[in-house]
Amino acid sequence: MAGRESGTTVVKLGGSVITDKDRPEALDGPALDRAADAIADALASGDVSDLVVVHGGGSFGHHHASDHGVSKTEGSGDAAAAVEIHGAMKTLNDFVLARLHDRDVPAVPVHPFSAASRDEAAELTVMTEQVETMLGEEFVPVLHGDVVAHAGEGVTILSGDEVVTAVAEGIDAERVGFCSTVPGVLDDEDDVIPEIRSYEEVVRFLGESDATDVTGGMAGKVRALLDLGAPATVFGPDALREFLAGEDPGTRIDG
Ligand code: IPE
Repeated sequence: MAGRESGTTVVKLGGSVITDKDRPEALDGPALDRAADAIADALASGDVSDLVVVHGGGSFGHHHASDHGVSKTEGSGDAAAAVEIHGAMKTLNDFVLARLHDRDVPAVPVHPFSAASRDEAAELTVMTEQVETMLGEEFVPVLHGDVVAHAGEGVTILSGDEVVTAVAEGIDAERVGFCSTVPGVLDDEDDVIPEIRSYEEVVRFLGESDATDVTGGMAGKVRALLDLGAPATVFGPDALREFLAGEDPGTRIDG
């Protein structure tokens, strides 16, 4: 697909960073405020111009998904369940948009349930033309993990990580960042590995992963990111500012 001019940054705010994972549908307001401050300041200072934000589910998505027994591979044909999971994610999305608007960030929602699908082989397709047009109009599209129509399964869960990778590829993003609760990919002494260029370098720390494990483990995440056409950085909440300023805090993954 035709890409935009290069220069777009895609950043994911992990669900555990912006919500309180121990309580259903509980926002971590102060943490979301800090993230929104970092984003607003980076846009105001010109450190970042074209930005796409994706957020995870945290205590909004995962709670409802497990209540209904829906995962990335276990689907459901129950429309009410799909709408409930999607609705919880829209609620979280509204919170994220509101905190960004409070800081004059021109954030607009994109709900992947209406813009994505998986085929029988679980191959994901995500529309990105609207994201490109939004960027061209100087909006900041805000996407999220969601449910997705899945051929033969009803709906399954679409993780925020999958949204990031698909959108980054679709719009030919220049940089991709994952703001998570850990400061990076850790070695066996819990030190941050500064750079990963191949899976062999880190297999002894992360173990084998199968390609379908993308929501859960770091291993699947690293594998997916090594396949991405753009460098990706995994960093902790305190390093969001640094990442948006163009630095590479945490772990840089560049296959
Ligand atoms: C989960 O997205 C989305 C739903 C459960 C609906 P993620 O898997 O990306 O969420 P976090 O970041 O791990 O919370």
